[in-house]
Amino acid sequence: MTEDKIQKHFMEEFPTEPPVSEPERQYYFIQRAREDLKKMSEAAGRPLTFCVTTFGCQMNARDSEKLVGILEEIGYIEEPDEEKADFVIYNTCTVRENANQRVYGRLGQLGRIKKKNPHMMIALCGCMMQEPEVVEKLKKSYRFVDLIFGTHNIFKFAELLATRMESGDMVIDIWKDTDKIVEDLPSERKYSFKSGVNIMFGCNNFCSYCIVPYVRGRERSRNPRAIIREIERLVADGVVEVMLLGQNVNSYGKTLEEPITFARLLKEIEKIEGLERIRFMTSHPKDLSDELIQVMAESKKICTHLHLPVQSGSTRILEKMNRRYTKEGYLELVRKIRAAVPDISLTTDIIVGFPGETEEDFQETLDVVRQVRYDSAFTFIYSRRTGTPAAVMKDQVPEDVVKDRFNRLLEEVQRISAEMCARYEGTVQRVLVESVNEHDESLMTGRMSGNLLVHFPGDASLIGKFVDVSLDECRGFYYLGKMTEGKTE
Ligand code: SAH
Ligand code: SF4
Ligand code: F3S
Repeated sequence: MTEDKIQKHFMEEFPTEPPVSEPERQYYFIQRAREDLKKMSEAAGRPLTFCVTTFGCQMNARDSEKLVGILEEIGYIEEPDEEKADFVIYNTCTVRENANQRVYGRLGQLGRIKKKNPHMMIALCGCMMQEPEVVEKLKKSYRFVDLIFGTHNIFKFAELLATRMESGDMVIDIWKDTDKIVEDLPSERKYSFKSGVNIMFGCNNFCSYCIVPYVRGRERSRNPRAIIREIERLVADGVVEVMLLGQNVNSYGKTLEEPITFARLLKEIEKIEGLERIRFMTSHPKDLSDELIQVMAESKKICTHLHLPVQSGSTRILEKMNRRYTKEGYLELVRKIRAAVPDISLTTDIIVGFPGETEEDFQETLDVVRQVRYDSAFTFIYSRRTGTPAAVMKDQVPEDVVKDRFNRLLEEVQRISAEMCARYEGTVQRVLVESVNEHDESLMTGRMSGNLLVHFPGDASLIGKFVDVSLDECRGFYYLGKMTEGKTE
């Protein structure tokens, strides 16, 4: 199977020189890495294993699937336990400082394990690697790392790995930015029935607190035909739900040669036969159009869930954040969405303690939380990111004040989301069965269109199927229930 896939890219003979064009070049290096790995396995006297550990957001999760796809093509065997694997890859996140600290902590631990395993290799990639200070620190104090690459050249993984295997030296390759999108590389999905699909990369918004535009580069949209083709292939392979991914999906298509709106793209995706559910994230309020709201209202496949990060309820702070909407504008948007899609679940991201945030500003945030009544909200303590405009703003808020606000916000968010969750009690909902319950093997876990989870008696044969479940008991942010009939599909 693997050989076939590689062969497909070389219609005639396997080339002796690396091809210049992508993805052929990477398939060439996959083949070379296969041969290198074979020798390494023979020397070790056993098959070699890998473990990819992902930090951060859905983008990174999707990137990790691409890394896994390539590693499996090369012939590595997956080992879920990081401490036992021969090749450990950290796909890192740097959105908040604590994400970075976690990586350094775990890396120290890995260094100790590597001393005992002569066949072990460690690779670091992802957003943290796009920060020059990080790479400097790694070069100085973490010499045992074998391979370092960034977000823009992840498609080159096979080539970099083959280079490392053949040279034995630490390989570092970081690109500052790129306008390149390489299609058609292998990828291994975590779930057989659902998949993330990148529709765009990078971000042009430069919210003043955020490092993502610096580490993920300028906004680039994939060609709609490439997206549709990928989804069609996924559906043919058993996928029934897709999550369209981008830092700001609402501005999809604007930079393409033939511009197209996100709403139009959704309409095209909706036509794909066999695809049952469409999700997307993240939506930036400033770019959420009436056209999109209408498409959502008319769609049979788009899920009744919208993640709409508000960040702050204070117009003054929103301006300093460079979010380009006001409190009133945001609330009006919410009103329009609820009018068009009455049972929509709304979720959000909120930052507390942005520089200059006063108690009054914070009260505005609480007010938005109470007015919108989110189904759930991710709450973050503001983290100062070097290089962003907010990092040098005056009036950084003292830690104890931020902690106190954070706790008050969390309490309000949780109280409301428990009430919101409970509104479906006693109803029957169609769910996509995702997994066996982690704590109780007799229960299955299904996801509703609005993104809530329900646990109910069943067996693993239901995974990937849609079933109707009665929501008997709300447990705060999830349900216990039972199936009302057999499989619906
Ligand atoms: N593109 C998405 C968000 C990506 S980052 C959007 O604009 O909605 C995910 C979340 O991390 C953000 O919504 C924000 O709430 C949070 N975040 C980003 N930078 C942060 C920082 N410096 N400190 C604290 N939280 C931050
Ligand atoms: Fe960061 Fe703003 Fe871009 Fe989201 S839209 S990734 S918060 S800069
Ligand atoms: Fe983190 Fe990079 Fe995502 S910084 S949140 S992994 S885009």
